[in-house]
Amino acid sequence: MTSSSETIGQTKTPGKRPHTKILVDGGDPEETIRIKQLIGFVDGQTTNPSLIAKNPEIKDLVESGHQLTEQEEAAEYRKIVQAVSPLVGDAGVSIEVFSDLNTTADEMLSQGRKMFTWIPNAYIKYPCTAEGLKAAQRSVAEGIRVNITLCFSQQQAAAVYAATKGSRAPAYVSPFVGRLDDIGQNGADVIANIKRMFDQSDHHVHVLAASIRNVQQLLFAFHVHSELVTVPAKVLDHWAREGMPLPGSDFAYKPVGVEIPYEELNLEQPWEQFNIEHELTRKGIQKFVADYKATLRKTS
Ligand code: E4P
Repeated sequence: MTSSSETIGQTKTPGKRPHTKILVDGGDPEETIRIKQLIGFVDGQTTNPSLIAKNPEIKDLVESGHQLTEQEEAAEYRKIVQAVSPLVGDAGVSIEVFSDLNTTADEMLSQGRKMFTWIPNAYIKYPCTAEGLKAAQRSVAEGIRVNITLCFSQQQAAAVYAATKGSRAPAYVSPFVGRLDDIGQNGADVIANIKRMFDQSDHHVHVLAASIRNVQQLLFAFHVHSELVTVPAKVLDHWAREGMPLPGSDFAYKPVGVEIPYEELNLEQPWEQFNIEHELTRKGIQKFVADYKATLRKTS
């Protein structure tokens, strides 16, 4: 069987606006304004602790020796998303809870509830771990919109589907393409596989292709009709310089690593039945913690 990402070569058609919603993957409102002027629209934004640590104001504070308290960091994060919120369309602004490997669902939910009040178009990002999924399950029951991040497998996406069933708003799942490429797998496959799995579903989960590092991956997200894609400004700059192409009918993606095979999964099971372990989920949490802590005042 040939997967959609096995053929070589590429044809592009110059562009109308894609059906896939485009989110800016960043932590700087000035960048969002610039991209909106450049491409004419921004459907939404995703943030994470690493991107917030790179915000120019936070970087200046830290570089000048002013390390933040947790309260100051949260206030800065709130200020950033409040500036971005009115700039974007209906895909909203994703705000990530601060969690390490020991953070409980209760702790995540308590942060999520507060963050959800910061702006009218918030999506709360929880990691794709057992505690993150419990927090997401309780969030959707309370009407809090969610985005489950650090997803690296079809089984994890299936667990997101089961945990968020009944959500009034679409629940987002964010599979990370670039970080799978980094470990020698063809990250694009995970997007294609999850989209294929959700073909036979109630469609309450929308796929938000993430960890996008180049225009080829962006076009692949369009090609497989990912509902959303989050893209760093530098990749959108590149896409704009190429004339904002869309993939043609003969679009072909050059795989970058080992194929990730499709799995037949029954979505109508409790989320606990799926294997949600992935080394990159754990590593991703550790990286977010390190970047977040680097901005904080040492307390010991
Ligand atoms: C967005 O939600 C993700 O946090 C982001 O796309 C991760 O990208 P990276 O793998 O380039 O850090």
